[in-house]
Amino acid sequence: MPIDLLVHSARQVLTLAGGPQRGSSLGRLGIIEDGAVAIDAGKIVAVGDSSDVRGRFQARDELDATDRVVTPGWVDPHTHLVWAGDRAEEFEQRQAGVSYMDILAAGGGILSTVRRTRAASPEDLAAQTTRRITRMLTYGTTTAEAKTGYGLAWEPELKTLEVILNLDEKGPIELVPTFLAAHALPPEFEGRPNDYVDEVIGQMLPALLSWWRQQVPQRPRPFVDVFCEEGAFDLAQSRRLLEGARALGFPLKIHADEFAGLGGAGLAAELGAVSADHLVHTPARDIQALGASGTVAVALPCTPFGLSEPDYTPARALLESDALLALATDLNPGTAWCESMPFAMALACRKMGLTPAQAIAAATINAAAAIGRQDQIGSLEPDKQADLLILDVPDYRHLGYRFGANLVAEVVKRGQIVVARGAPIFELDNHSL
Ligand code: NIG
Ligand code: FE
Repeated sequence: MPIDLLVHSARQVLTLAGGPQRGSSLGRLGIIEDGAVAIDAGKIVAVGDSSDVRGRFQARDELDATDRVVTPGWVDPHTHLVWAGDRAEEFEQRQAGVSYMDILAAGGGILSTVRRTRAASPEDLAAQTTRRITRMLTYGTTTAEAKTGYGLAWEPELKTLEVILNLDEKGPIELVPTFLAAHALPPEFEGRPNDYVDEVIGQMLPALLSWWRQQVPQRPRPFVDVFCEEGAFDLAQSRRLLEGARALGFPLKIHADEFAGLGGAGLAAELGAVSADHLVHTPARDIQALGASGTVAVALPCTPFGLSEPDYTPARALLESDALLALATDLNPGTAWCESMPFAMALACRKMGLTPAQAIAAATINAAAAIGRQDQIGSLEPDKQADLLILDVPDYRHLGYRFGANLVAEVVKRGQIVVARGAPIFELDNHSL
């Protein structure tokens, strides 16, 4: 049977077959030695032994993966991808001892990126974001969640959302949008957090719903997220916001327990949120609640690393409670400007005690579950999207073990080769690294 593309002779194909991996089952890689993946019309048609698959298909194009490892493309389920400018001067201040939340309380931090993002044109925002997308793709991310949250008012939040949707259309990276108007209290609402929460629930979310129905009715609804934290939105405000979003039919996410354990993770489990993210200071009862729920626990180890904080997500306790654990970068200009999922995986191994196999599953099939896409991406199985990587390593354990250099040789997105020999080969307006 003629097909578009055949990837063959891989030392190991990591299929990650069988769906999201809970608790102690995390790390089932589904390894096929001397493996092959047959691809047609952007989808996987067969995965198996190289000689068997090669005998069944005639491919128009082939990729020889001899001595290398094939994995699903990384899924990055938590990013603040779209912003303008940088905060290099705040990094310097933090290195001199000023805390992240003190910088925010003084009107900097997230609010300084809000000023830059509000002032930027959509074209400028897209151009700045495209440079990050190019890096993400060359490090093997084929799908990423992308949040708004540097607008904090309807117009600039919508501008950000449109940039996300346009960049997704343009490809090759696939972007899954999240509406995070409740990322910080905008200066216009200083001292009136409840009024801002009312504004998001009463004005912005209904406006978002009608905009979505008119402009992109075919797309799944965006997630709605909130930063539940001291100095951002408290538990009662987060509950109001997420309940309001849920009543309008939006799927939910939450930033919980990054600095203080306020109960956001338990709230996520109770409300059936798709994910609860950060989870550094999560109380034991909320860990149990996550384990008993369908909410995916998303760990972001680049964030404590980026902030030089000592504490990381307690992965072992989450897995013991039977939670679904995923990994993401948290890519953002404040706490973690990191486009590399392999770096997040290397940190997760050392700082959260994961094995390489667990980190790989947390960055693929479980990360897909954290954005509700486990039926389309995150594993190499027939009928799934053909999103895969050829890594220039002889064994999967080199992931996590090695860090700081890019081990990705080829990236295939929906059956198209978009990175070859480590270099991007897709057309983007501004793809300088
Ligand atoms: O996930 N915690 C809130 N949001 C981001 C940081 C955003 C920023 O500093 O710009 C985070 O760490
Ligand atoms: Fe975040």
